[in-house]
Amino acid sequence: MEPMEGEEKEKQEKKHTKWVKSVMGLVALGEAAVIFIGLQFIPYGRGYNNPPVKAEPKWDSSTTRELFFRACGDCHSNEVVWPWYGYIAPISWFIQHDIDTGRAALNVSEWGREENEGSEAAETVNNGSMPPWAYTILRSSAKISASEKEAFVQGLVATFGSELKGEQKSKKKVDDSIRFFPARKDDREDK
Ligand code: HEC
Repeated sequence: MEPMEGEEKEKQEKKHTKWVKSVMGLVALGEAAVIFIGLQFIPYGRGYNNPPVKAEPKWDSSTTRELFFRACGDCHSNEVVWPWYGYIAPISWFIQHDIDTGRAALNVSEWGREENEGSEAAETVNNGSMPPWAYTILRSSAKISASEKEAFVQGLVATFGSELKGEQKSKKKVDDSIRFFPARKDDREDK
């Protein structure tokens, strides 16, 4: 009965390997869970980040303002509405980063700041680069419909002025490297 014993042994060994593997798997899972939970304690991008509203631009109409807050307010104002997943690291960090860079470019809650690039707002809506398309997948209510677009662009021109009319297009290079919502290709220089 030699061969039978050999087979039995092999079976046992296989069973043991399987057991070791599943324990190791559990340990790895546990470690991942601990790291994940640990991440949640890093005090960055937790959504408690709406500084006070200082001043708003002189909107040409309440419709323009409404559309702006619906489509742009989550990155260009101090009245950001955080989604539930925005509280989970590391997603929250990417969102925080987007809001920080978005606000740096344009913040309608801190009007009067020199850095505000309001005059480019109409152009970004016109060429479809804003709101970022990936963001509108997550928040479909931010989409500007075809029927709203024209009036919105005009409202933005009336509110912020525009470089639309001049031939001068923004030549600013979009840094796509660490963005959660990458800019559209057609918004980049290298198109
Ligand atoms: C999901 C976040 C997000 C939303 C929503 C969003 N933006 Fe932006 N926006 C950004 C970021 C990030 C930048 C900075 C881009 C850069 O410099 O790379 C930016 C830049 C801009 C700029 C500066 C010019 C430029 O192209 O860099 C303008 C103007 C602008 N956005 C207008 C708008 C308008 C108008 C809307 C709504 C229709 C909007 N944005 C919606 C994130 C957003």
